[in-house]
Amino acid sequence: MLSVWGPCTALSPDASGGVAHAGARLLVVDLDLSERLSVEAARAALAPYRHSGSHCIFLLRDMSSRSQIQANALGATDILPAEVSTAVLLDRVGLLLAPPGQSDAAAALGQRFVAASAGLSDLMGAAQAGAGLPMQAIEDSVTALNRAADGGDLNAWLDMVWRHDDATYQHCLLVSGLAAAFAHRLGFREADRRLIVEAAVLHDIGKARIPIDILRKPARLSAEEREVMREHPRIGHDMLVAQGGFAPMVLTAVLSHHEYLDGSGYPHGLNGGDIPDPVRIITICDVYAALIERRSYKPPMPPGDAYAVLVAMGGKLDRDLVRVFGEVVLDAAIVRLGQYGKPILHRAAEDAA
Ligand SMILES: [Fe+2]
Ligand SMILES: [Fe+2]
Repeated sequence: MLSVWGPCTALSPDASGGVAHAGARLLVVDLDLSERLSVEAARAALAPYRHSGSHCIFLLRDMSSRSQIQANALGATDILPAEVSTAVLLDRVGLLLAPPGQSDAAAALGQRFVAASAGLSDLMGAAQAGAGLPMQAIEDSVTALNRAADGGDLNAWLDMVWRHDDATYQHCLLVSGLAAAFAHRLGFREADRRLIVEAAVLHDIGKARIPIDILRKPARLSAEEREVMREHPRIGHDMLVAQGGFAPMVLTAVLSHHEYLDGSGYPHGLNGGDIPDPVRIITICDVYAALIERRSYKPPMPPGDAYAVLVAMGGKLDRDLVRVFGEVVLDAAIVRLGQYGKPILHRAAEDAA
C-alpha cells in the first residue's frame, strides 16, 4: 500500500540492520514493543537511519506513555495506533512526503490519489482473501477519482500512477483515472460518472482469483496461461453477482470489457449492438492503459502512438468515443511532450484518424 509513493521494502524484525533502501525517505515500524527481542531488533535495524533525516512512523500496539517513550527512544518521528485505518495512515504519510513548495491544487490531487489508492487496497485485499467486497471503500475510491477528474490534470495523475510500485494497482488506477477523465469530458451527469468509474475500479476484480504466478509473470503469457487469464471477466462478474448490490451496468462492464464491436472479443464474442456505451468506454480506457503501461518485458508506448493504435483498431472500438478519448489523452500528451521539445503527436494522431 505504501508503494503509492514509490519502491517499498518490507523487512522482518530479524533482518539485520541496513538492508532497507539506502536513502529511504520513510520508515514504518510495526512491532510489538512489549517484546524485548522486537525492541532489540528495531534498535539494530533503525541504527543506520538515526541521523539520516528519514521520517519514522511507529505503529503501537498500545498507546501507553511507556510505549511512546520507548518508540521515541528508538527514533520515532511520528506515532500512530497499530489499528489505525488505511486512510488515516496514508494521509499521514502523504503529509510527511509531500514535496516542499507543492501548490494547493497539487496537494489536493495527491490526497485524492492516496484516497483512491487506499480504497483500492481495501478492495483488492478483500477480493484476494475471498471476503465480501467493501462497498464503502469502493465508493470512497469513486468519489476521489471523480473529484480528481474535476481538476482536469490527467498528466499529474499519470505521474503519480507511474510512481506506484505495484503493477496491479497501477493498471487499476490508470484505467479508472482515464475513465473518470473520459466521463468528465463527455459531460456526463454525476450519477453516470459514478457508474462509469465504479465499473472501471471493478473491471479486473476477477484477477484477484487468477493464480499469482500467472498474474505477476514478468514475461508474456503462454497460450495456456492466457486461457486462464481470459477467465477473469467471468470470475469478476460472478463475484459481484454472488455478493449482490451492484448496478446492472457495472456487472455488464465487468463481464464484457474485453468484447469488441466486431465480435472478435471475449468471453462471448458479442457484437456492437449488444455492447452498451459505458462498456465501450471502459474497453477504450483498458486497451489504452495496457499500451502505455510500464512492464518489465515491454517498453511503454508514447501516448500518441498508443492513440494511433486505438484508431487503427477501426471497427473493434466505437469511433465516435475514440475521437473524444483523443481529446482527453492527447491534450495531456502534448503538454508532456512540450517539455521535451517534441510537440509532434497532434499531427501524427490526426494523420492516423
Ligand atoms: Fe480485463
Ligand atoms: Fe484491465
